[in-house]
Amino acid sequence: MKRRSRLFAHDPGSTPHRAAAVRGRGAFASGGPLVDPQARRIRYLRVSLTDRCNYRCTYCMPEEGIDRIARADLLTLEEVATIVQVFAELGVERVRLTGGEPTVRRGLVELVAALAAIPIDVVLTTNGARLAEMAAPLRQAGLRGLTVSLDSLDPERFAAITRRGVLAEVLAGLDAARDVGFSGIKINTVAIRGFNDHELGELALWAWERGHVPRFIEVMPMSAGRLYVPGELMPAAEIRERVAVAAGAPLVSDSGEGVRGLGPATYWRVASGPHAGRRVGVIAPMTENFCASCNRLRLSAAGSLHSCLARDDAGDLRSVLRSAGPVALAARVRAVLGYKQSGHTFALDGQGGPDKAMISIGG
Ligand code: 5AD
Ligand code: SF4
Repeated sequence: MKRRSRLFAHDPGSTPHRAAAVRGRGAFASGGPLVDPQARRIRYLRVSLTDRCNYRCTYCMPEEGIDRIARADLLTLEEVATIVQVFAELGVERVRLTGGEPTVRRGLVELVAALAAIPIDVVLTTNGARLAEMAAPLRQAGLRGLTVSLDSLDPERFAAITRRGVLAEVLAGLDAARDVGFSGIKINTVAIRGFNDHELGELALWAWERGHVPRFIEVMPMSAGRLYVPGELMPAAEIRERVAVAAGAPLVSDSGEGVRGLGPATYWRVASGPHAGRRVGVIAPMTENFCASCNRLRLSAAGSLHSCLARDDAGDLRSVLRSAGPVALAARVRAVLGYKQSGHTFALDGQGGPDKAMISIGG
């Protein structure tokens, strides 16, 4: 317990805590693994560490901003570690740290080390702005995988979509990450017609040249559809077509309709030619619904557990943890899981999404 308090010395709200009260694997095994009403097994937890970001991507952050989480309402990093430990007990195999932008949360590196020691697979999604300095310590702390958002290779367009980002910083961050040993870095590009659709092929070639895995995401109507322009949606089939043209060869699914990884992306390979075998991922909630294979829950930085990205309902874990401890927490997790719906209700016209902004839940 003492050690953990020191680990989180950065974290102002950190107190000697109940983490140590989670005793060894199996403490909550009585309820069995986490399975939702649709018989989907939960293996993966996304944890938002902050709703703040050093960028302001136009599809993610409303121009007027969002109601930010008050500092006192943030989970401490120690509480995050306790919650993740409970999820590990419940059979969750991987935790993805997100934001906002997770690298703006102080103590991130220490948190990664603490989570890796649980042990659980720890991965991170970042905008890459701070990777040049953080890649080495994150790697050393035990981070297993990196996903970096990158919507354009043109410095001006990059600055425009992020409302402030400096492309060169992200590129330097990606090089640093590769140099310290991260491999198979995923490059997330939100495909937006009229903005970067002409760049999708180039982005794929660029990623392959560097050993990264390009992934393209259909834009989703978060924030009650206020940031969504229906004509901007690039359907997955069209995304694949652009990549195939750039690769000079058809894409074939790894098997069947494209193999899914641990997440919602389907993966495709270049069938022949100079880029034969290269992989590309496509995340297509809008035109190729993947909800039937959903395997995840999401924790906000304030400690509410969201059963679905596309819905606003959530259960508060923070108060349970603070008042009752880890055993009650496991029961609350199961209760939230009990109302996980079968799928999202995003519609192509921008209706049906949640009020919450992407920046508040981290994708
Ligand atoms: N639609 C699709 N993807 C989005 N992201 C952020 N907002 C949206 C949106 N409205 C992406 C980010 C990041 C990932 C976590 O989610 O670019 O790569
Ligand atoms: Fe920040 Fe990522 Fe949202 Fe852009 S997409 S504003 S980088 S959290």
